[in-house]
Amino acid sequence: MGNSFSSKIGVLLAAAGSAVGLGSIWKFPYTVGENGGGAFIILYIVCSLIFGLPLVMNEFLIGKLSGKSAYGAYRTLSGTGRWQWLSWMNLLSVLAILSFYFVVTGWCFYYMAEAATNSFAGMDAKALEAHFTAFEGKALLMIVYAVIGIVLTASVLWFDVNKGIERLSKILMPLLFLILIFMAIHMIFLDGGTTGLKYLFEPDFSKITSKVILQAMGLSFFTLSVGVGALITYGGYMPQDQNVRGTSLQMIVLVLIVSLLAGMIVFPAVFAYGFSPQEGPELTFVTLPAVFQHMFAPTVTSTAFFALMCVAAITSTISMMEVMVAFFCEATAETKRPLNRHHSVIVVSLILILANILSVLSMTGHANWLSVMGMNLFDSANACVNNILMPIGALGAALFTGWFVPKTRYQGSRVASFIYLVILRWIVPIGIAIIFLDSLNII
Ligand code: TRP
Repeated sequence: MGNSFSSKIGVLLAAAGSAVGLGSIWKFPYTVGENGGGAFIILYIVCSLIFGLPLVMNEFLIGKLSGKSAYGAYRTLSGTGRWQWLSWMNLLSVLAILSFYFVVTGWCFYYMAEAATNSFAGMDAKALEAHFTAFEGKALLMIVYAVIGIVLTASVLWFDVNKGIERLSKILMPLLFLILIFMAIHMIFLDGGTTGLKYLFEPDFSKITSKVILQAMGLSFFTLSVGVGALITYGGYMPQDQNVRGTSLQMIVLVLIVSLLAGMIVFPAVFAYGFSPQEGPELTFVTLPAVFQHMFAPTVTSTAFFALMCVAAITSTISMMEVMVAFFCEATAETKRPLNRHHSVIVVSLILILANILSVLSMTGHANWLSVMGMNLFDSANACVNNILMPIGALGAALFTGWFVPKTRYQGSRVASFIYLVILRWIVPIGIAIIFLDSLNII
């Protein structure tokens, strides 16, 4: 096969790279801290096993059994075009995610460059806050950095999967682990760091409400990259003898380890220097750089941290952009003008550059007419993906395999257990329906 992964470890590292991203390193720590620490972590793990694992396996299998990406997989397995809308929704979902994800990836690159050139020296939290606010107003600068992310991602996708994505994942993922471990050791020895670990881990079961359970489920889906066809696409490149269940479980464990390590880096540092944990971008782009200024070797530490964010972000953008690239190749294959991989990378890059320019302009207030539901494009894309597109994508994929894929396709496969089918048919759809209705405030 021309375009496929060449090793099992390559598949695992690429899949883990897709999953480990801004979600694990940035969103996970503050969500856990706010919602009952250890108690929330238990919920997150339970959700990842009951809902996450079957959904990850399901996407991998849809790809692996069809040998196609999101576009062709549904058609090939169902034998009809009736499920094609799911693949179009996947395409729309990754486009929506990437229209803001590259903006934030750009922030990470900009902050890494600033950290490496020691620009934060002498700045306190107030100054850093002003610095971040000023940066958020500079549309051109943000666009330039988002485009850097797009071009870097495109240059990896330019190559076939085994030469581009696989080779890079084999370098970047070990690098990510090295930086994480270096930083975690650095932080754990800080005086007063234990308060941070307590904030992260001490279980407070009184905070567990139905809202918090739903939040755990939502975070689990987001960090595992399910519901947008990225894992279907990677599944399509798997070697035939890849064990889907094992790979999925290993991927989930890796994501959990990275997320916990990220929390163990962030909170000891924040508490050791008397800062208070913030929610959202403030924590990463204001509080942490301020904290790092107090530490031993601030330049090295802050550069390492933002390098970590960049690596995590890029391996995720690679998997999402690959959904689009593969989609265009497959969708045009039987037309008069089939796109080859290189053409497709160029077309997708141009679309994404345009989407990110619009997202930045609407965010910085340069184009107020660009708003959806009263929010700028950046926020509305984020909300729409989390609340609508990802849940429906995951639900559709579960119903598809649970009820519609001809059973014969499953019989040769080791995962066709009764429990797995029951989960895909009933438990996952009911769980997702509950999150969905809740997010629309219907229940
Ligand atoms: N899992 C990624 C993160 O934690 C983000 C993400 C969400 C994603 N959905 C995805 C990545 C689909 C790739 C494909 O940051």
